[in-house]
Amino acid sequence: MKKKVFLTRRLHDFALKELKKKYLIEIHSGKIPIPQTKLRSKIKDVDGLICFPYDKINSETMEVAEKLKVISTYSVGFDHIDTESAKKRKIRVGYTPEVLTDATADLAFALMIDLLRRVSEGDRIIRENKWRVIYGAYDYVGADLQNKTLGILGLGRIGKTLAKRAKAFDMKIVYHNRNRLSPAKEKSLGAKYLSFEKIISQSDIISVHVPHTSQTENMLNAKIFKKMKKSSFLINTARGKVIDEKDLISALKKKEIAGAGLDVFANEPISKENQLTKLQNVVLAPHIGSSTKETRAKMAEITVRNLNLGINGKKPIYSVGY
Ligand code: DGY
Repeated sequence: MKKKVFLTRRLHDFALKELKKKYLIEIHSGKIPIPQTKLRSKIKDVDGLICFPYDKINSETMEVAEKLKVISTYSVGFDHIDTESAKKRKIRVGYTPEVLTDATADLAFALMIDLLRRVSEGDRIIRENKWRVIYGAYDYVGADLQNKTLGILGLGRIGKTLAKRAKAFDMKIVYHNRNRLSPAKEKSLGAKYLSFEKIISQSDIISVHVPHTSQTENMLNAKIFKKMKKSSFLINTARGKVIDEKDLISALKKKEIAGAGLDVFANEPISKENQLTKLQNVVLAPHIGSSTKETRAKMAEITVRNLNLGINGKKPIYSVGY
């Protein structure tokens, strides 16, 4: 008899074809993220689960899943999964790092250029028919990237790739990480280690690349924004909850910092009622860090491979903990 796999959203057609060859699959349609009651009723007798960011897979969810062998998430982030509970229940957890590193670093860089050169702001000005002055000496002036200090919070795969991009743009790179890199690695990246406090007070741009955990939740808040340079920008392509969004809105309104480029939010999707949408010094993206054709296809491939391994009791290629 074929094993059963439940998907909380649709994956690429090629991935579904692969899955259908081996398993009986069912795909949730309707409200996203999937409501807990439906998720719990669906995973009762499945062997594998494919999920996406914001599908809450906690201990209560897993409690009902008696046969579940693997949770394979189509994402690098796994803050939506209680990985400790999974480990206790001997449920493998697979995720998709590496393949999305370049795409996500590119988006962080894109947000940074957009903010400093006011590209989206200019686009809005034209679309709203507000372009009046042509080539005015002080009009729509942005800032150079060259010689600016980029502070990277979290120098993992994505942070390091961003550093490489920044080096090519002649930026000064400083970073803070749980573990400091070796002097040789720091030298090759051209990145200087600083304390968290110094990153906050010295950077012209801060880009966030830490995972969302109980330690990092709201780590950037009113107290921190007050210590940043008034001319500085904040970029977040990691997870929205790492920033206290209400405090950020207030800091942007009070001009305590110069602007923000955000791909992730405390609660997604955000609506046009969100105060962030009213601010000109903010560039917003709908959580598209990994969203390129090539990257998303690779993520689907890894998601299926992780599932195939875990469902057979083996360690996924990219595995969390167990
Ligand atoms: C992930 O995979 O967790 C990222 O948020 C994608 O952008």
